[in-house]
Amino acid sequence: MKNALLGVGVALTVVFSPFQQANAAETNGELKQVDSVAHRGAAGYAPENTIAAFDKAVEMKADYIEIDVQRSKDGELVIIHDTTINRTTDGSGNVKDLTFHQLRSFDAGSWMGEEFSGEKIPTFDEILDRYHGKVGILIELKAPELYPGIEEEVAEELKERNLDKPQNEKIIIQSFNFESMKKINSLLPKVPVGVLTSSIADTTDEALKEFSTYADYFNPSYRMVTKNLVNRVHSLDMKISSWTVRSQEAADFLLEMDVDAIITDYPDYVDPRTE
Ligand code: G3P
Ligand code: CA
Repeated sequence: MKNALLGVGVALTVVFSPFQQANAAETNGELKQVDSVAHRGAAGYAPENTIAAFDKAVEMKADYIEIDVQRSKDGELVIIHDTTINRTTDGSGNVKDLTFHQLRSFDAGSWMGEEFSGEKIPTFDEILDRYHGKVGILIELKAPELYPGIEEEVAEELKERNLDKPQNEKIIIQSFNFESMKKINSLLPKVPVGVLTSSIADTTDEALKEFSTYADYFNPSYRMVTKNLVNRVHSLDMKISSWTVRSQEAADFLLEMDVDAIITDYPDYVDPRTE
């Protein structure tokens, strides 16, 4: 959705409404707007990519939840980070080689604590229906090269719910796979697109300019962020969201760098008032 967000994402130093104040952080005596994005849900507090983690993020008043979308053997879009289920469930195998019925039969919560036993791998439908309108949704297409046609399927689910319109209920799609994001931009021209990277090679002026032809967000690992990078991204009318914050120091650093959003396992590090 190139240019549609122009002027919206720049750090704000104006008078905030009470709602906006809930998400503002103070730096150098000025208030500025920074979105908190609960990474895989509030993954510091509940098992990642489960309803427990997403509900916790909403309870903590995060601005967005971040989800990782993949596909089962029989075509169901599911929410899980790794391309295998080994780390985050009591089963094993590749996501793409297991049917939805098989994926759902495993426990996706007890690896983090017995109190989370019974959590299941959610579906993309479930997440859209449960959270759209309640909290923004940052949708990551995880390893889309493994799932030919997944872009069309994601686009269809959004269109069915009217979530493909400009500024509509804070839906953003991102990936490390740039070709996939070009495709999403052509399928869903009004939905903001982000490119994810942890490679310094993607921060040259030339690379950023190419991203800006189809992306609205440049989303680097926080270890790559400098004030100069933030300024160059903004000068191309893109926003910058950075990840993955797991310490107060990292959150404070990114606030100081003037990024537009902080993707974190701990939403309270971005805005302690949401505790
Ligand atoms: O949203 C950014 C972040 O999720 C990218 O890394 O590995 O946690 O999906 P990863
Ligand atoms: Ca992710």
